[in-house]
Amino acid sequence: CRRPHGKVALITGAASGIGEETARLFAANDAFVVVADIDDELGRKVAASIGIDQASFHHCDVRDEKQVEETVSYTVEKHGRLDILFSNAGIVSSLASILSLDISNFDNVFATNVHGVVGKIMHSARAMVEKNIRGSIICMASVAVMVGGIGSIAYTSSKHAVLGVVRSSSLELGAYGIRVNCVPPHGVATPLARRTLNMEGSKIEELVSASASLKGVVLKASHVAEAALLLASDESAYISGQNLVVGGFTAVQPVI
Ligand SMILES: NC(=O)c1ccc[n+]([C@@H]2O[C@H](COP(=O)([O-])OP(=O)(O)OC[C@H]3O[C@@H](n4cnc5c(N)ncnc54)[C@H](O)[C@@H]3O)[C@@H](O)[C@H]2O)c1
Repeated sequence: CRRPHGKVALITGAASGIGEETARLFAANDAFVVVADIDDELGRKVAASIGIDQASFHHCDVRDEKQVEETVSYTVEKHGRLDILFSNAGIVSSLASILSLDISNFDNVFATNVHGVVGKIMHSARAMVEKNIRGSIICMASVAVMVGGIGSIAYTSSKHAVLGVVRSSSLELGAYGIRVNCVPPHGVATPLARRTLNMEGSKIEELVSASASLKGVVLKASHVAEAALLLASDESAYISGQNLVVGGFTAVQPVI
């Protein structure tokens, strides 16, 4: 059975977009969810709408290791355990030339998208190892892990780094039965994508569908949430260190 019955999931960036969708799907599949986000107002609303029996909000800025540690402790104190980490919070930066890069902006993207991920894996894995839990850690990547040019240099490098973190930590944590994978989606018309591209959701979906190899389906946050659910479930008990691409982009049309 795919449902993560009674398992406890910590989801960062769960106040919006893909994280919110995943929090709702996990809760609908009987998991207890901690909605962690920097945005208290939206995060509280999401947790309240899921219901207090299954979800609670905890403030967490993933750039701050202390807050990450506190969020993991909160989860374990509230539910007695942590089975699933969905490290989803992430930011983008606007396109900039390597010839005139703003390094402080680059550092900020890395603080959220890379340091944040490493801190979350470290503290979550410690909590799992301490209680002998064969947990599942899922990190949010992007199709920008596979090819340059889709996002800014900072974003592309940060998501490439996530894949390195996933592969290397999966080896070490595999010794404890903890699986570590990532999901790299193609474009999803979330608030982040709409803001970054300055486009209507329907326009984003049209562009993504045109470049995706799989036709007749429009990529939605729910598809990414389903992939995260699969990686969180016992169905994927032997899947670790993998990069589960959601939304095509692993093949291109031949030009000759
Ligand atoms: N939308 C896409 O097209 C797309 C494609 C590939 C990958 N992604 C990745 O998916 C993840 C989620 O993106 P989304 O599109 O759902 O965006 P979103 O903006 O809708 O949601 C991101 C959430 O992360 C939170 N957040 C940002 N910085 C944070 C921090 N420092 N600490 C805690 N929370 C923080 C935001 O408040 C927000 O609630 C990101 O890692 C993004 O890189 C998105």
